[in-house]
Amino acid sequence: MPPITYEHIKTCKQSGARLGIVHTPHGSFETPVFMPVGTLATVKTMSPDELKELGAEIILSNTYHLWLRPGHEIVKEAGGLHKFMNWDKPILTDSGGFQVFSLSDMRKITEEGVEFRNHLSGEKMFLSPEGAMEIQNALGPDIMMAFDECPPYPAEHDYMKASVERTTRWAERCLKAHKRPGEQGLFGIVQGGEYEDLRRQSAEDLVSLDFPGYAIGGLSVGEPKDVMNRALEFTTPLLPENKPRYLMGVGSPDSLIDGAVRGVDMFDCVLPTRIARNGTLMTSEGRLVVRNAKYARDFRPLDERCECHVCKNYSRAYIRHLIKANETFGFRLTSYHNLFFLVNLMERVREAIREDRLLDFREEFFEAYGFNKK
Ligand code: GUN
Ligand code: ZN
Repeated sequence: MPPITYEHIKTCKQSGARLGIVHTPHGSFETPVFMPVGTLATVKTMSPDELKELGAEIILSNTYHLWLRPGHEIVKEAGGLHKFMNWDKPILTDSGGFQVFSLSDMRKITEEGVEFRNHLSGEKMFLSPEGAMEIQNALGPDIMMAFDECPPYPAEHDYMKASVERTTRWAERCLKAHKRPGEQGLFGIVQGGEYEDLRRQSAEDLVSLDFPGYAIGGLSVGEPKDVMNRALEFTTPLLPENKPRYLMGVGSPDSLIDGAVRGVDMFDCVLPTRIARNGTLMTSEGRLVVRNAKYARDFRPLDERCECHVCKNYSRAYIRHLIKANETFGFRLTSYHNLFFLVNLMERVREAIREDRLLDFREEFFEAYGFNKK
C-alpha cells in the first residue's frame, strides 16, 4: 500500500463537494478537513491533548522553520517530528518554498534553488528541491510538499509561465530525491496564478508525474475572492478524482466553504490562531473583537452557539480582561475556540455533503456570519 491513499465516500448532489477519507501511516482523517498550523512543531499555545480534544485530526508544520531551529537533524535524532512533539496523528509539512519567499528579504531564484537570508541570523542560505526533501525525510511527516515557487499577485503571464515550468522541474527533482517513498507521501503543487492556461499546464504536467496528492498553491496571496474561486473552478477538474486536493494557506470560514464547494479536500491557515492572539474570534454571528470596551461586562460566552470547552466555561468579560492584560491563558482560550470553530465548521460541511445540502448550508452560514451583507 502506498503511504497516502484517498477513499472517496460521496459527492454532494447539490454542490459537487467531495466527502472522503485520507489514509496515512498515522491514521485516517475525513475530508474536507481543516489543518491547524504548528509552524515550530507546536500549534501556538495548544497542547497535543487540547488539539485532540477540539477535534484536530491532522496538523501542519514547516520545513523552513524547523530546518533553521532546532535543525532537522535534532528532530530526526528525537525519532522524528511525531515523537519530538508528542503528536501521534498525521502531520503534513510545507516544503519551505513559500516561507523563503514570505519571510526572508533578500532572495535569488535560480534553476538550482533559492538563495536567501536567514530571517533569524541574517546568514546567507540556500534551499533546493533536494534540500527540501532531505529535511522533510528527516522530519518524517506523513505528507511532504514539493519545493515550489509561489509567485506574488499579480504576476505577468510571461513570468508566471517560466515560474510554473521551473516549479514542475523542481517537482521532478523532488520525486527523484525522495528517500522514503514507502513511508511518506509527496504532494505536487499546482501553480499558475489566475491564468487558466497555466493552471492547466501545471496540473497536466504534475498529474503525469503521478503524485499521491495535489495542492493548489499561489492563492490567497492578495487576489480578490472571486479570482480565487474562479481559479479553483478551472483547476480542481484537472486533478485526479482518486487523490486528495489541498488548497494551501486558506482559512477564512467563507473560503473553506467555497473551496469545498469547488472540490477541495484539505485546507490550512495560521488565521484562526493568529487573530486569536490579538483577541479576534470567529463566531456563528461573525467576527467578534473581544478587546472592545462593550464586552467589559458581557458575561456571555464568546459564541452562544458554540459547544467548545471555552464557551462552556468562560465569559467574554473574563477573556477580554486576560487578553488586555497580555495573560498567556487568554491566548490559549481564544486559540482553542477559533480552532474548534473551524474544525467544527468542517464537520458541519461534511454532514451537509452527506445529506446533499451544502449550498443550503452555505447560504445559512453566510447569512449568519454577515458575508452576504458585503
Ligand atoms: N502556502 C500557501 N501558499 C503556498 C504555495 O503556493 N506554496 C507553498 N509551498 N506553500 C504555500
Ligand atoms: Zn467556543
